[in-house]
Amino acid sequence: MDLWQHQYEQLLFLQDRSVGLKAIIAIHNTKLGPALGGCRMRHYASDEEAVADAVRLAQGMTYKSAVSGLPYGGGKAVILSMPGQSPREQIFWALGRHIQTLQGRYITGIDLGTAVTDMDWVRLETPYVTDTTGSLGAAGDFTARMTAYGVFLGIRASLKRVYGSDSIQNKAVAVQGLGKVGYQLCRYLKRAGARLIVADMDPLRVKKAADDFGASPRRPQDILAEPCDVFSPCALGGILNDFTLGRLGCRIVAGAANNQLAEVRHGEELHRSGILYAPDYVINAGGIIVTSVELLGGDAALARQHVEKINDTLTHVFRIADAEGISPSAAADRLAEVILKN
Ligand code: NAI
Repeated sequence: MDLWQHQYEQLLFLQDRSVGLKAIIAIHNTKLGPALGGCRMRHYASDEEAVADAVRLAQGMTYKSAVSGLPYGGGKAVILSMPGQSPREQIFWALGRHIQTLQGRYITGIDLGTAVTDMDWVRLETPYVTDTTGSLGAAGDFTARMTAYGVFLGIRASLKRVYGSDSIQNKAVAVQGLGKVGYQLCRYLKRAGARLIVADMDPLRVKKAADDFGASPRRPQDILAEPCDVFSPCALGGILNDFTLGRLGCRIVAGAANNQLAEVRHGEELHRSGILYAPDYVINAGGIIVTSVELLGGDAALARQHVEKINDTLTHVFRIADAEGISPSAAADRLAEVILKN
């Protein structure tokens, strides 16, 4: 494994054999402030895969905070799920002890595979954790709601760029993934008059979206190719890749999933094929905005106001892309890198 091929400030391998903890913390960049980014817990096929996931996600967090105007850097923790691990609380106590040794250089929170109760365990060992019981983000799924709201605003800004109007009325939006964010996004879209087409691996979630919003269900393998105005990936990362790009049936890709582009070049390919891509870390910043506003002492109303700026940020990214003759994904990276340099 070539650990030096990746970009990061600090890469930490954490181990506590007494409880079966194996974890990685990637601190990508702390120029704007402490590294902020959740903790993911899942099975990885190899250590290399876990390192690559942590590093790539951490970089996404740096760029997300930078373009969103937040005084934080980017980091991410991943815990490798393994058979025979101790009960969850022991894993997260051990993680909390490691995070405490960093003295605030990295602040964790929830991500895929972790929950508020896990963060409560971490909190017993360190204050450098968000999304604990009673926090702004944890209350009534506020984080997911604000993430969905930001994506909704990003969809409107994208429609404006393509059609000259940000009206969602009668626009066909295909939502892939009806979890915490996807479901809330459907709610915003339905209220604005969208025609919803949805898919999820879980048939119960599909049924609920059909019942609640009159959404038309599709099989998970078909949603990508659905003819529509907007394809909104709200499930997995890496969804825009060599196998999927040629199948897309949309004019716009705008969704919540992190790291949607399998590789940087896929952003260029989308651009060449005439599909507008709303860079993921620009439009899915609602969650980190909530966390950051709370860390700085703000409340829900302030967080919502800040999320509303996503519309302007994305419009600015599209303008840079036009002015420089580059793709929106390259324009977003350029914006983040300029902010990080100054
Ligand atoms: P979630 O775990 O609640 O929901 C994900 C949903 O996607 C599940 O219902 C799952 O069954 C479905 N799914 C998985 N594979 C699928 C496939 N191949 N086809 C269709 N559906 C599939 O996750 P959540 O919180 O809604 O997040 C969604 C995405 O947004 C994730 O990529 C996450 O990293 C990203 N994100 C979430 C934020 C948040 O505030 N929750 C913040 C920023 C990004």
